[in-house]
Amino acid sequence: MTLSSAPLESTVWWAHTSAASERLLRLLDSGELARQSRFRLQADRDRHLLGRSLARLVLAERAGCAPEKVTFELRCLSCEDKSRTGAERGDDAPHGKPVPTGAAQGWEISVSHSGEWVALALAREVAVGVDVERVSETRDLAGLAGYTLSDAEQQVWSALPAEGRVGAFFGYWARKEALLKATGLGLSGGLRRVTVSPPHAQARLLSWEGGGGPGAAWLSDLDRGSEYRSALAVLTDRPVQLAVHPPEHTADLLRG
Ligand SMILES: CC(C)(COP(=O)(O)OP(=O)(O)OC[C@H]1O[C@@H](n2cnc3c(N)ncnc32)[C@H](O)[C@@H]1OP(=O)(O)O)[C@@H](O)C(=O)NCCC(=O)NCCS
Ligand SMILES: [Zn+2]
Repeated sequence: MTLSSAPLESTVWWAHTSAASERLLRLLDSGELARQSRFRLQADRDRHLLGRSLARLVLAERAGCAPEKVTFELRCLSCEDKSRTGAERGDDAPHGKPVPTGAAQGWEISVSHSGEWVALALAREVAVGVDVERVSETRDLAGLAGYTLSDAEQQVWSALPAEGRVGAFFGYWARKEALLKATGLGLSGGLRRVTVSPPHAQARLLSWEGGGGPGAAWLSDLDRGSEYRSALAVLTDRPVQLAVHPPEHTADLLRG
């Protein structure tokens, strides 16, 4: 096997919001604590706390250092692109993908939360993006599909049986957002520019309109039950060996 075709390891941890505990607050840095206190809803505080504290614990273990030695730089590629082209930046408040710095430099992570679930994805040296979405009835689903799905995706989606469309929509969304989060562009990268395979087919990036897309991407659905859709993107042309830690494992890790 040549080195370039050797599988690349990526790991996902699932945390349930019931694992959130005050004890984890000690793992947050001052910026995260300030953000934590700005959330009005307990559920948002729990999800944010779990995402960042889990990331620190996992990275500390991988880097062989204390959790407080793990630091993050927030990078939003959309805003970096705008400032490179001289366009006005939308938002100057720190935001974007948490990129490990300090002792954990070289590792890449992605965090996602929806409803009662938090996902953390990790890989070494290659960018990852994870997304979890709760399937929810939306009043104007066709309208939403119109500005989030690409033309090719809409053609497939609108021909699906009516009862499968809500789940399929969130399946598309999770795959596309996982890719946009892996690149660091986030939703400002434009959901409609990204075309992925239909939810009933194996997950794959089909096209990325207008440049700025990844050279290569591995994409896979994750399973969080029928009420959620979730996907992982790893920006590599190598095969990916995925390990998934269920919520029980993650709860043990969080308890210390
Ligand atoms: C950030 C964004 C990708 C999150 O999507 P979402 O479905 O609402 O939420 P998720 O739970 O899946 O993801 C949230 C996490 O994504 C990460 N994230 C934030 N910006 C990101 C980016 N540009 N790329 C990758 N990941 C990003 C963060 O870790 C965040 O969680 P945390 O702050 O608790 O650590 C999306 O809301 C977005 O792109 N927003 C930007 C829109 C905007 O404000 N534009 C103006 C400035 S660019
Ligand atoms: Zn931005």
